[in-house]
Amino acid sequence: MHFRDLVPARLRQSTLRVCVHVLGIIVATSCLAQDDSAKGETAVPTSKEPQGLTKYLGRRIASPMGFQHMDWLSRPERIQEENPQEMLDQLGLKPGMVVCDLGSGDGYHTLQMAPKVGPNGRVIAVDIQPQMLQELSRRMIEKKIENIDTIIGELWDPKLDEASVDLVLMVDVYHEFSHPVQMLAAIRKALKPDGLIALVEFRAEDPTVLIRPEHKMTKAQILKEYKANGFKVAKEYERLPWQHLMFMQVDKNWKKTQVPE
Ligand SMILES: C[S@@+](CC[C@H](N)C(=O)[O-])C[C@H]1O[C@@H](n2cnc3c(N)ncnc32)[C@H](O)[C@@H]1O
Repeated sequence: MHFRDLVPARLRQSTLRVCVHVLGIIVATSCLAQDDSAKGETAVPTSKEPQGLTKYLGRRIASPMGFQHMDWLSRPERIQEENPQEMLDQLGLKPGMVVCDLGSGDGYHTLQMAPKVGPNGRVIAVDIQPQMLQELSRRMIEKKIENIDTIIGELWDPKLDEASVDLVLMVDVYHEFSHPVQMLAAIRKALKPDGLIALVEFRAEDPTVLIRPEHKMTKAQILKEYKANGFKVAKEYERLPWQHLMFMQVDKNWKKTQVPE
């Protein structure tokens, strides 16, 4: 029996894409493995990589969580701390939607969203670490879920098609972007005209939220950064246990004026 008999066509494509990109991003992933060391805050620039930042508009950027720690994403306490089901219920997912789980990790949320958008919808899982997407692909096969595509992004580019996405979900991810300006510009392009970002970040205003400071954000800081990059608040949900959930939309009147610190 061949691999092609076991694995649906879309999953084979995803798996192939993962393999093809592994070599290309090996430098980035070796930097990520230094998770949270001061030195590893930004990847070593390659010739085509725009310069990453360690601070943005007064905020210290966190190191990306290394794939070696992916078990943390499925820790049992996550249910109490984040109430993922309540978060998903707020997203307004409907059959046929195209949703991007940006910084998907091993697909904790991706796999829950796939049934909600149904066979005519897609969930696009983007991550910079192929090991995360390999684990997601393994779970997709195990659960026989076929409406998920995986993309290995660059630190500065999620490689999404223009005007293709209804909703970009980012859970515990944005504060890790070493290239927030480029990433937000790419998301702006990828959103359909009425598309939304659903941004989930641990509340930095709340000292009882037991997460490292650089992995939390205040609402004021979120607004500062998103406004500077052409987004405005569409709606907010402040009833998750530990996190802000803010929906952002493209501000069509925005003129690029603010320069990063
Ligand atoms: C803390 S994990 C969260 C994973 C997932 N969103 C969840 O809630 O389970 C953050 C993930 O974001 C990814 N990440 C960081 N910077 C990224 C970027 N520029 N583009 C895509 N993924 C990125 C990391 O590789 C990591 O897998």
